[in-house]
Amino acid sequence: MLVAVVGVGLVGSEFIHQLLSIPTESSPFRLISLSSSSRSVFLDPAQAITSTAKWKSILSASNEKPNFETLTQKLSALISSSTKVAIVDNTSSEDIAALYPVWLKAGINVITPNKKAYSGDLGLYERIVSASNESGARFLNESTVGAGLPVISTLKELVATGDKVKKIEGVFSGTMSYIFNEFSTGSSEGPSFSSVVSVAREKGYTEPHPADDLNGFDVARKLTILSRTIGSAASLPSLQSFASVQTASLIPAALEGIPTGDEFLQRLPEFDSDFDKMRKEASEEGMVLRFVGVVDGVKGEVKAGLEKYPTSHPFATSLGGSDNIIMFHTERYSPRPLIVQGAGAGAAVTAMGVLGDLLKLV
Ligand SMILES: NC(=O)c1ccc[n+]([C@@H]2O[C@H](COP(=O)([O-])OP(=O)(O)OC[C@H]3O[C@@H](n4cnc5c(N)ncnc54)[C@H](OP(=O)(O)O)[C@@H]3O)[C@@H](O)[C@H]2O)c1
Ligand SMILES: *[C@@H]1O[C@H](CO)[C@@H](O)[C@H](O)[C@H]1NC(C)=O
Ligand SMILES: *[C@@H]1O[C@H](CO)[C@@H](O)[C@H](O)[C@H]1NC(C)=O
Ligand SMILES: *[C@@H]1O[C@H](CO)[C@@H](O)[C@H](O)[C@H]1NC(C)=O
Repeated sequence: MLVAVVGVGLVGSEFIHQLLSIPTESSPFRLISLSSSSRSVFLDPAQAITSTAKWKSILSASNEKPNFETLTQKLSALISSSTKVAIVDNTSSEDIAALYPVWLKAGINVITPNKKAYSGDLGLYERIVSASNESGARFLNESTVGAGLPVISTLKELVATGDKVKKIEGVFSGTMSYIFNEFSTGSSEGPSFSSVVSVAREKGYTEPHPADDLNGFDVARKLTILSRTIGSAASLPSLQSFASVQTASLIPAALEGIPTGDEFLQRLPEFDSDFDKMRKEASEEGMVLRFVGVVDGVKGEVKAGLEKYPTSHPFATSLGGSDNIIMFHTERYSPRPLIVQGAGAGAAVTAMGVLGDLLKLV
């Protein structure tokens, strides 16, 4: 299988490292193209990149700008009955996501941790599904939800074997997980909300502008992907895009639209007392606060927001750091749910999800 990688940031670099660490003699993969936002290389399959030490210099020595029309043409020319081709999109770009139908139509398989295409406009998602159906090329998305955790594959197998998914609920954002694991431990007092958010940002757990995490859109995107993957197997609302998910943002109304992360954090303490009050109320009921996502196939609801859970619940007891946890309540897994838990972010585990998908194509 010939592989082209678009996006060589944290995840992309780690993915390339994992791919090239498979001994060349036994590897089913040949890495023939790399692109960043400014540069691109395309090699003859006989000259494929094999060295983890050299790929960076090969890319930086290139003066070629990325041109995805040319990339599509060159890759599709290499497809044959004995040769498959895959593009790994490791960007967070909408523009690249919009190209998936073109690639799939040309017979190129698409693998990505990028949530944009699968959780955006329903029209784009439908074009992806029908392009894949038409050509037989596949699109794989395991690492879009819970990074390397087996979330999508578990869900697909439950649905494909005829189980009925009643409800999926979980902590899907590593950032939100960290924030509430620190902020709400069951006790009525603790660090202020703004101080927890500031520390999370210093540790690199949040986006540069924390509002991009606190708005809940990342969770809404993941719920959209789960909901579309369940498809008609449950009576879920048809989501026009992730914006159709009922999302309760944590951004105080007065801080909506503040342009910089620094200014946002300067003003966030004005709202600490509101968060203190919620924590205290929860604590008096023996509960903690967690920012969760819910796909409810019984109520026909998809929503993201802050909820209370008993201090004995797995969302309260078993999360550490920026872990994700996902509970599948199904007809078979009832009354006790199937639970997937572990690191839901980080380059190594995300790249593992991508490489795992690629191995499914061999
Ligand atoms: N990091 C995680 O823990 C994690 C977990 C789950 C999912 N993801 C998803 O994985 C994806 C990658 O994340 P990351 O952390 O690796 O990001 P990153 O470090 O910012 O890397 C992004 C890469 O994409 C390239 N790029 C961006 N726009 C491009 C364009 N239009 N054309 C060509 N290349 C383009 C960038 O090029 P330059 O190098 O030239 O800037 C860079 O190489 C994202 O969609 C993210 O949401 C990440
Ligand atoms: C993939 O790209 C995203 C952003 O575009 C970046 O944050 C992530 O670290 C990259 N992953 C790898 C393995 O390069
Ligand atoms: C897939 O393609 C077949 C014919 O090739 C068609 O009958 C079927 O309706 C298509 N399914 C979807 C979901 O587009
Ligand atoms: C995720 O990928 C699977 C194929 O593994 C596909 O059946 C499903 O429709 C995809 N879901 C989304 C939302 O892309």
